[in-house]
Amino acid sequence: MTVPLLKIGAVLSTMAMVTNWMSQTLPSLVGLNGTAVSRAGTSEKITLFQSPDEGWQVYTSAQAPDGKCLCTAVIPVQGSCSRDLRSHQLRQLMEKVQNISQSMEVLDLRTYRDLQYVRNTEALMKGLDSRLKVAAESQKSLNAKSFQELKDKMTELLPLMPVLDQYKSDTRLIVHLKEEVRNLSGSLLAIQEEMGAYDYEELQQRVLMLEARLHACMQKLGCGKLTGVSNPITIRASGSRFGSWMTDTMTPSADTRVWYMDGYYKGRRVLEFRTLNDFVTGQNFVQHLLPHPWAGTGHVVYNGSLYYNKYQSNIAVKYHFRSRSVLVQRSLAGAGYNNTFPYSWGGFSDIDFMVDENGLWAVYTTNQNAGNIVVSRVDPQTLEVLRSWDTGYPKRSAGESFMICGTLYVTNSHLAGAKIYFAYYTNTSTYEYTDIPFHNQYSHISMLDYNPRERVLYTWNNGHQVIYNVTLFHVIKTSGEL
Ligand SMILES: *[C@@H]1O[C@H](CO)[C@@H](O)[C@H](O)[C@H]1NC(C)=O
Ligand SMILES: *[C@@H]1O[C@H](CO)[C@@H](O)[C@H](O)[C@H]1NC(C)=O
Ligand SMILES: *[C@@H]1O[C@H](CO)[C@@H](O)[C@H](O)[C@H]1NC(C)=O
Ligand SMILES: *[C@@H]1O[C@H](CO)[C@@H](O)[C@H](O)[C@H]1NC(C)=O
Ligand SMILES: *[C@@H]1O[C@H](CO)[C@@H](O)[C@H](O)[C@H]1NC(C)=O
Ligand SMILES: *[C@@H]1O[C@H](CO)[C@@H](O)[C@H](O)[C@H]1NC(C)=O
Ligand SMILES: *[C@@H]1O[C@H](CO)[C@@H](O)[C@H](O)[C@H]1NC(C)=O
Repeated sequence: MTVPLLKIGAVLSTMAMVTNWMSQTLPSLVGLNGTAVSRAGTSEKITLFQSPDEGWQVYTSAQAPDGKCLCTAVIPVQGSCSRDLRSHQLRQLMEKVQNISQSMEVLDLRTYRDLQYVRNTEALMKGLDSRLKVAAESQKSLNAKSFQELKDKMTELLPLMPVLDQYKSDTRLIVHLKEEVRNLSGSLLAIQEEMGAYDYEELQQRVLMLEARLHACMQKLGCGKLTGVSNPITIRASGSRFGSWMTDTMTPSADTRVWYMDGYYKGRRVLEFRTLNDFVTGQNFVQHLLPHPWAGTGHVVYNGSLYYNKYQSNIAVKYHFRSRSVLVQRSLAGAGYNNTFPYSWGGFSDIDFMVDENGLWAVYTTNQNAGNIVVSRVDPQTLEVLRSWDTGYPKRSAGESFMICGTLYVTNSHLAGAKIYFAYYTNTSTYEYTDIPFHNQYSHISMLDYNPRERVLYTWNNGHQVIYNVTLFHVIKTSGEL
């Protein structure tokens, strides 16, 4: 007779266990109370972006052990390749959780009601128990009257039978629920490891947004003053003496397409290689035929478009590769062209486009500036000049120039022995003479551009496509502002 009471106890404690799991473990499993935090770097964290309810945070930390500046994103890890499967799986799991909580409610109600009933009959059962003992001890004292009493008590207890049956089935349900919860917990943990939040579509958006922010953050933090240039690495030997080649300065690093423009005047043929490896082996390319021929080698690819100088004009052209169309063209007011103010090597290199961490720039000169290099920030959508700086450095005495972190670096020659000789800081409108050597391996540089995405210099050196690493020196302020 004590068995049903024990079972009630078992049901209740299982309930408590499951309910506890529902209310506490589950939310953390699906990322409701924040997600896995991976912090790199130590001292002086600056929070750039925070969305606590989703667990999104971007930190910058001042100084890592190797002296590099770190930008740390605290993000739920993404598993983008199986995204649909995963969100489907998650939806099903959520439905299961809902089903379970419904079952729990039903069970809870029933258990409570039955418990009341059992409590009420407990006294009754105790009385019956003792009477049965007495009866067993003295068979003789079991007269007709007391037998009838016992029978009545038993009748009173009869309704307890279905309750006990109910407990049996509830126990089975509980066992089943327990198993389901265990399965669920395992699946959720697995999913949590891969994504850590509810809505995958939303998460994907967040990841993209955060990627962009992180990108900007890292670029800014990595900024500094050029102090050194590595030894060159020759990627390929191809084309004529003059030309230009590049990767996009803006798209995600997974996109390693290479653009190749041989020659310095009247060219219209741009080759687009699928990857850097394809470029090295010279295969897998498509050809773009520009509607207007180019002048010089100062072209740049930025965010899917080519910016170049239209032959025999000071017109800047923005050509969009995917749509194969010119999106906008605009004259650079007063800019010299047609070999009026080229770099020292000539070649219609009057107008040089470049991109750094801050965006698009054009380097050229005008009669008003007496042939000294002008550097202008250019709006990449409209090609309007936003602001210009007169560097005071004569363009014809410059071998090439490139922009890093808002500073224009100028070489003094395109020939052997060239060095980075002059730096103009747009942030302070000041300049200084520098003496940064680099190895001009093939002795005739007709293109030199910095790629902020890869932090390398791209050059075209006498029919060789060559890259250099750069060393940027920066002092990191820990007081906050970036
Ligand atoms: C998240 O839940 C875990 C337990 O699952 C707990 O230890 C942790 O403190 C919770 N975090 C927050 C931010 O509430
Ligand atoms: C949830 O319950 C409904 C109705 O009982 C059922 O059709 C559905 O398959 C259940 N969902 C899961 C994931 O078990
Ligand atoms: C739990 O997972 C096991 C193994 O995947 C499976 O056989 C079982 O049917 C699952 N139980 C429930 C209740 O979903
Ligand atoms: C200007 O930029 C240079 C190079 O990036 C940097 O070294 C210098 O500290 C900056 N100056 C100011 C005032 O921000
Ligand atoms: C890059 O191009 C896309 C469209 O192709 C545009 O939405 C985005 O604003 C551009 N980004 C910049 C920084 O110009
Ligand atoms: C460009 O220069 C050449 C001489 O080098 C001249 O014949 C031509 O007319 C010039 N074109 C323009 C548009 O100034
Ligand atoms: C630049 O540095 C990276 C990392 O140290 C190295 O893998 C790469 O080969 C270097 N490239 C050049 C051109 O030195």
